[in-house]
Amino acid sequence: MPVTEEQVLEALRPVLDPELHLSIVELDMIKQVRVAGDRVGVVVALTVAGCPMRGEITKRVTDALAPLAGVAAVDVELTVMSEAELSAVRDKMQARHGAGGAAAGGGHAHGGQRLGHEEGRANPFMSSDNRTRILGITSGKGGVGKSSVSVNLAVALAKQGFEVGILDADVYGFSVPKMLGIDHDPVVIEDMIVPPVAYGVKCISIGFFVGEDQPVMWRGPMLHKALEQFLVDVYWGDLDYLVIDMPPGTGDVALSMAQYLPRSEVYVVTTPQAAAQRVAQRAAYMAKKINLPLRGVIENMSWFTGDDGRRYELFGRGGGEQLASDLGVPLLGQIPLVPALREGGDLGTPVTVTDPSGEASQLFDALAEEIVARGPSRVFRPELTIR
Ligand SMILES: Nc1ncnc2c1ncn2[C@@H]1O[C@H](COP(=O)(O)OP(=O)(O)OP(=O)(O)O)[C@@H](O)[C@H]1O
Ligand SMILES: [Mg+2]
Repeated sequence: MPVTEEQVLEALRPVLDPELHLSIVELDMIKQVRVAGDRVGVVVALTVAGCPMRGEITKRVTDALAPLAGVAAVDVELTVMSEAELSAVRDKMQARHGAGGAAAGGGHAHGGQRLGHEEGRANPFMSSDNRTRILGITSGKGGVGKSSVSVNLAVALAKQGFEVGILDADVYGFSVPKMLGIDHDPVVIEDMIVPPVAYGVKCISIGFFVGEDQPVMWRGPMLHKALEQFLVDVYWGDLDYLVIDMPPGTGDVALSMAQYLPRSEVYVVTTPQAAAQRVAQRAAYMAKKINLPLRGVIENMSWFTGDDGRRYELFGRGGGEQLASDLGVPLLGQIPLVPALREGGDLGTPVTVTDPSGEASQLFDALAEEIVARGPSRVFRPELTIR
């Protein structure tokens, strides 16, 4: 007996759009179902013509329908949504989460200042019922592995089942999309930016909005604006964790972050040598100055384990421990030097994905567990803000 149209739609209901993370049936992406004997034809309307997920959507639809009794072949035809259909999708998503995770509505007043979008959309991370933990990864100087730590920590958290986003706020040297192997831009539906997802991590980077070799020489106000857009216009959904790869040093981005994300926790990455540790201390003082809680130190490039099983401490030792004790915060983890970590970064395949049982991955998993276990730093109660 041939399947019915209803059975086809029921089977498609659990199929999620890979980027929007909602049912393709609920999003009204199924435009037509044709049943001819044991052949089923489905017309799926995509949000954008050049949708990078064409193959993935076709596969998900085929996989959902092929096992149905009475179905021998599945034909998937892809079309593109009209403006009106896109508007309807955007409204549905905003009704679910708001642009970024909370109910849409006016910007929240904070400290007497409106921190929502100019047009009045809310910064969801300011909302009192928002539960996202914001992990700001900083360092006093470049090249210590901030981006590598951010990416692998984000992947480790996603592997533990959390909803995770990563915001590449390193406007001077954005590198996160490449490290995650993301080669397409975010999908933009009207004024809503849908972040690409890699290894379970939603990613937004300033790199998506400027050319590859275009130097970014934005001044404070523009950076401020860009960061605001990343928080307000990006459809983050309900995140458990938002990892922020901060630019090296102190500066404007940190100030904007403190203003837009007053619940941010700050983590300092350092290498084991004493000199690096002194520089990292600057980042820590910055956190204190802008009144964000410093939660801990992460030491990177701590040692290299040779084939003989011995640990070689190429960059000295004790820097992380010393910095943590100077600052009165815990040393949360030590990550060894692992060639596969660098290669993974270059190839866009994080070591936490390609070698999950390796030394570095295990230590990233432990670091993620430690950060989860320690919980958020304090209860944020915007209603208690002194105005
Ligand atoms: N534990 C590690 N083992 C091996 N290579 C590493 C490790 N950590 C970082 N690297 C490599 O060191 C280089 C610098 O790392 P990364 O880009 O993460 O640092 P960063 O602090 O973000 O730098 P920048 O200041 O330029 O943003 C990269 O090539 C990266 O692959
Ligand atoms: Mg970096």
